[in-house]
Amino acid sequence: MADKVTASAPGKLVLFGEHAVVYGKPCIVTAVDQRLYVTVTKNGENAFHLSAPDLGLTAYSKTIDKLGGEGLPTGVRFIEVLYKRFLNDHPQTRGIDVVTRSEFSSSFGFGSSSAATVAFAMALFAVYGVEVSKQELFEICYQTVLEVQGVGSGFDVAAAIWGGTLYYVSPGKVVEQIKTGELPIVVGYTGIKADTPTLVRQVAEFRRKNPKTLEGVFNQIGVIVDKAKKALEEKNVTLLGSLMNENQQLLAELGVSSVELDTLNQAAVKAGALGAKLSGAGGGDCMIAVSQQSYGMGYSVLGIERSQKQNKNKYINIDKVRTAINQRGQWLDVKLGAEGARLEAGS
Ligand code: PMV
Repeated sequence: MADKVTASAPGKLVLFGEHAVVYGKPCIVTAVDQRLYVTVTKNGENAFHLSAPDLGLTAYSKTIDKLGGEGLPTGVRFIEVLYKRFLNDHPQTRGIDVVTRSEFSSSFGFGSSSAATVAFAMALFAVYGVEVSKQELFEICYQTVLEVQGVGSGFDVAAAIWGGTLYYVSPGKVVEQIKTGELPIVVGYTGIKADTPTLVRQVAEFRRKNPKTLEGVFNQIGVIVDKAKKALEEKNVTLLGSLMNENQQLLAELGVSSVELDTLNQAAVKAGALGAKLSGAGGGDCMIAVSQQSYGMGYSVLGIERSQKQNKNKYINIDKVRTAINQRGQWLDVKLGAEGARLEAGS
């Protein structure tokens, strides 16, 4: 058994269904090709050492009998809570050193906490030679996220574990891969960090006061998600675009959009995107837009396949959408549908 294991997990973006997923509706989430790496090394001491510079922490230690408790720094809570849960089931007298490294900023809303939790769990189980299924990994990671954060549908944990593009119903009731091929989706960052738990609680409060209205909104979002699944499978970008616009409208009704998100969405559509919406809890973080492009990739417009040459001047290029986003925010160069959690070579 290796004394040192590195695992990695991808970040994620919600494509459709945020917020409604907290109330039992499905959502569609995709893994991005930027990953978070966690290395776990047995240290032979009664100590837990953590260095997580990307989560805002450089050197943190305590003895392993003192894990958990109040006042943990945010960046380490997930890892420490999961480690404590692991030790309850698999007691040890000696501890570990944990080092994390992220390819993406924790400000983007790519789910750095979930990716860190999943990559850490995978490395931890591997370093002690404990076999776990993906479903078991999901359970322990999701319970950890709930313990730390109090709220959350778990779709981010699922994306970090399974990767790809998932049709998801909370809490892991349905986890289904959607075959999408390469997606002509552009991602824009507002430059503003959103606070997911606060927004989830804000929607919960809104729902408490207007149960009927919100039930209607969530139902409509659920219908959009099912249509979007089909549109993704059929690579119908025109339909995807209008579904994004509809979903955005409903999110605005929930009160979670923002001036910055609206600005980027409108800029993308003005530059030729077929539709745009916020991605995630809202209030900031990222938006996504779907564009027409690259018929070499098998996309069709109104069901008509065309060669790239024919469309060269006819259809607006994805680059225009990227540029428009870059002028008002930041275009993020990420690929979607990336691989889920994995052990890294040499582990
Ligand atoms: O802010 P993000 O990207 O973690 O997305 C939050 C999505 C919500 O549906 C609002 C919450 C959840 O846990 O599903």
